[in-house]
Amino acid sequence: MGVGPGFLAAELAAAVGSSGRVCGIDISDDMLAIAARRSVRPGSARVELSHGSATEIPFDNESFDLVTCTQVLEYVSDVPAALGEFHRVLRPGGRLLVLDTDWDTIVWHSADEQRTSRVLGAWAQHLADPHLPRTLGRSLSTAGFEVATPFVLTLLNTGYHPETYSGGLIGIVASFVVGRDGLTEHDVNSWVADLTEMGPAYFFSLNRYVFGATKP
Ligand SMILES: C[S@@+](CC[C@H](N)C(=O)[O-])C[C@H]1O[C@@H](n2cnc3c(N)ncnc32)[C@H](O)[C@@H]1O
Repeated sequence: MGVGPGFLAAELAAAVGSSGRVCGIDISDDMLAIAARRSVRPGSARVELSHGSATEIPFDNESFDLVTCTQVLEYVSDVPAALGEFHRVLRPGGRLLVLDTDWDTIVWHSADEQRTSRVLGAWAQHLADPHLPRTLGRSLSTAGFEVATPFVLTLLNTGYHPETYSGGLIGIVASFVVGRDGLTEHDVNSWVADLTEMGPAYFFSLNRYVFGATKP
């Protein structure tokens, strides 16, 4: 669910082999087009891509053995509706894996911590819930799932490299926050220069939380 560029779907397709079936759903046609480029690999299941929302999944009840949803629910304003849909399309005994970030766990070293806080405050506005993991376990139980103990995956980038998660994130954050919360282009360009010129002193860390659950 929320297949995005399709990396995980392609790996799942290889795991289930040519006798299995993988369906990728997204609300963005642009993302579906990107996912389509990696949807067919020799020896893998073909990834079937469809336009649809997590809150209205275009498949019948009990269609799937597994639903995965990584870095998507934090964008969804009606999480109970999405979890209800995951429950509906899973077969009894089917498994759900959800991964989301809590953006309060970010550590992004900079020369001007106050400016970085302003940038990150504005960046949090790109999500429906930047702190979803802390309530997700309860929401999964309420939706009727048996929930395993979650675990944490930490992204850690030390030393500035553009080809890392946070190195790529800098530009995305910069384009989103200009004009929000009084941040000028000059403020944001200075923030970008500060981070990208840090060299070996650069430090970024962020926690993602992984929830496994089963439909009884
Ligand atoms: C940060 S990307 C994550 C993509 C992919 N799951 C991954 O981990 O690489 C978020 C994706 O969720 C999709 N998305 C956002 N809201 C959605 C919704 N209500 N239903 C389905 N997809 C949604 C976006 O279009 C985007 O492709």
